[in-house]
Parts: sequence; structure tokens; C-alpha cells
Amino acid sequence: MKGKRILLVIGGGIAAYKVLELIRRLREQDASVCPVMTKAAREFVTLLSVAALSDSRVFDNLFSLTDETEIGHIELSRAADLVVVAPATADLLAKLAHGLADDLASTLLLATDKKILVAPAMNVRMWENPATRRNVASLRHDGVLFVGPEVGDMACGEYGAGRMSEPAAILAAIEDALRGDTRIALPGQPLAGRRVIVTSGPTREPIDPLRYLGNASSGKQGHAIAAAAARAGAEVVLVSGPVALPDPAGVVTHHVTTAAEMLAAVEAALPADLFVAAAAVADWRGAEVAPQKLKKGAQAPVLRLVKNPDILARVAQSPARPRLVVGFAAETENLIDNARAKLAAKGCDVIVANDAGEAVGQDENQVTIATRGGTETWPRMRKDHVALKLVAYLGKLMEADRAQ
Ligand code: CTP
Repeated sequence: MKGKRILLVIGGGIAAYKVLELIRRLREQDASVCPVMTKAAREFVTLLSVAALSDSRVFDNLFSLTDETEIGHIELSRAADLVVVAPATADLLAKLAHGLADDLASTLLLATDKKILVAPAMNVRMWENPATRRNVASLRHDGVLFVGPEVGDMACGEYGAGRMSEPAAILAAIEDALRGDTRIALPGQPLAGRRVIVTSGPTREPIDPLRYLGNASSGKQGHAIAAAAARAGAEVVLVSGPVALPDPAGVVTHHVTTAAEMLAAVEAALPADLFVAAAAVADWRGAEVAPQKLKKGAQAPVLRLVKNPDILARVAQSPARPRLVVGFAAETENLIDNARAKLAAKGCDVIVANDAGEAVGQDENQVTIATRGGTETWPRMRKDHVALKLVAYLGKLMEADRAQ
């Protein structure tokens, strides 16, 4: 980050206070921050506090004669290495999507030739409003990068997607954007305008308040797919079991623990164009959960198990079935036969099969893609590259499907 110049457009939302922390962290990393505040932003944080933390003066007026003679707004927009909008309000996103330029912030966004990273923050109804959905889809299509929003309690008392990401997550997204990680080998935006749901990680099925049935899934492949789908232009909902990974940038992440919670979160996120079931869902759960810790007795306890719902099969058979349903098959033997069998048994369109022993917890993966048309095996590669190759492949399948 040393020496990198961030043009930080601060929008008018309650989350603007978090931007002070973001500026502090950027400065700690020796990045230089040039803040631009909208008129509404000044209702939430003061010019003085922003100026005190930044290493630059704060710009807020398009028609300032002094500003224009010292540094014109075009130059301001080009001098940066990256433009960051936080909080990106519904109004700022709408202006950016439609090319409006009626104040300094929107003019800079229109004039810049640099990557733009936005951290949306708004009420859940505003985020879910079809107008905002359309604006977000066009911005993704234009290559604008997103971090968040997160799901959680909102300042207005409601609950849902719309909370601005925490400064640490925005910082990580800024680092990614500056590294150019967002541009790895993705031809265009193959999932532009699509809504994608991804499951990832393990599920945990409680036995008593302290013990659970679980598995060793790390969530690396599923999270990489969610991140890749967002980079490919999709609006992505990730439903994740307990993992030690950060929420991917530009994705709305729901955290769940059990298979039943995962199913409920997936069903609530439908409809979608594409569903990717990468989670290692526990097939069984305890028939009853002991309300207190099970004490060690003379006899080994007998656990009675009942079957969990098959989330992939449920989605594939639901009336709201996404156009493309993709499952994973983690196998330890007969990879291709088992993958083919799962394709039919689960009613999905694509199975991504991998060797469980070689994939779990690793950073690399070798997958075989099975469709009704046949199978193809890809070389072993990093999981984030498998993810990018997969979203490009799925984008093509969806295009071909639309053309028919
Ligand atoms: N899956 C699911 N819900 C379940 C079990 C599995 O959604 N209750 C999904 C997984 O996310 C994966 C696919 O089904 O996409 C296959 O998972 P896998 O564990 O390989 O297969 P199972 O269905 O559990 O079958 P088996 O244990 O016989 O291999």
C-alpha cells in the first residue's frame, strides 16, 4: 500500500463514521488518502475530523474557484491509483450507474479512468429495491468492484443486507483491487446481470450444547466461487457454514450452522439464475439435541441420527428452480461414475467432482466437470483459478441455453 493514492468519496449515510477508521488504517499502511465529501456526508461526519485524519485537504465543492485553479476536478479524479466510495449510498450508486454529475463526488466518478470500488450502505428495502438491483447490475457489468454490503442489524432497527462492510474488509478489498487480483483471466463479465446463490463450508449438527457432528470442509472452494461470480458481474448470495475465512468482497454472506439453517437461508435467497452447492452438508443430524452436556457414563452413548434435507436436490426440484443448478461430488473412489450418478439422482445440470482426500483444506484442486453431455477433467490448479474457470464455463452454458 505504500505510496498508493486513494481517492475516497464519502457518501451521506450513518456508516460514514466507519470511514474515519478506514482512513486511519489506510494511513497506517502508508497509503495517501484524498477525501471528497458529498453535501450529505457533511451531515454525518465533519470536514474537520476527516481532514485531521487524512494527509490531504478535503474536497467538497465542484464550483470552488480555488480548488479549480490549484487542482482541477479532472486531475483529481486521475491522480489516484484507486477510487473508493464509502459509504456508497443508493443515491450515489444511482448517479454512478446513470452517469449523472451534479456535484464534485459524482463528477469525479464519471471523469475517472481508474478502477472504482464501492462499499454500499443503505436500508435493506433500498438495497432490495428493483431500481437499486438494476443499478448494481449495470455497475458490475461496467466493472465497478463491490465490497459488501453485509447482512445484519441496521441503524434504522431493521435486519437484512445493507450494512456497510467493516473497515478491515474494505481495506482487504482495496488491497485486492490495487494488486489487480480482480482481473485474473476472466474474459469480460460472463455472469453480468445474473443472480447467483452459493453454499460453502461444512455444516455442524449439534449433539449437546458443546459437541457437534461436523466435517473438515474449509469452504475455500465455495468462497472462491462466490468471489469469482461477483467478479464475473453477478449479484451473489453466499450461504456459509462455520469457516475461518473472511467474507468475500462484493458478496452478501449469510452465516449459518446447521443444514436446516442452510436450507432456510438458500430458500429465502431464491429466486436465482444459478445455484452452486459447494457446501459439505452433513447428511445426518442427531435425532435429539441434549439440552445439557452429555456426561461420561460407564456405557458408550448411542446416538440416534435422522437424515438432513438434501439442499441441492430440494433446489433442483423446487418450483423456483434456478436455470442452472450445479452440485459438487466429494468422492474417495469411482469419481466419474459417482459424479454421473449424482447428476441424475440430484436432478442438477452440472456436477463438479473432486477427490475428497486431495481437495479438503488444500489451496489447490483438480476437478472433473460432469454434465449430461459428458465429462471433462481440468488440470490441477489453485482453487481461486478453478473458481474463475468455473464461472466462465457456467456463463457460457447459460449463454448457450439462452440462445436456444
Ligand atoms: N448436498 C446438499 N445437501 C445435503 C447433502 C449434499 O446440498 N444434505 C450437496 C453438496 O453441497 C454437494 C452435493 O450435494 O453439492 C453432493 O454432496 P456429497 O457429500 O458428495 O454427496 P451426498 O449427497 O452426501 O452423497 P454420498 O454421501 O452418498 O456421496
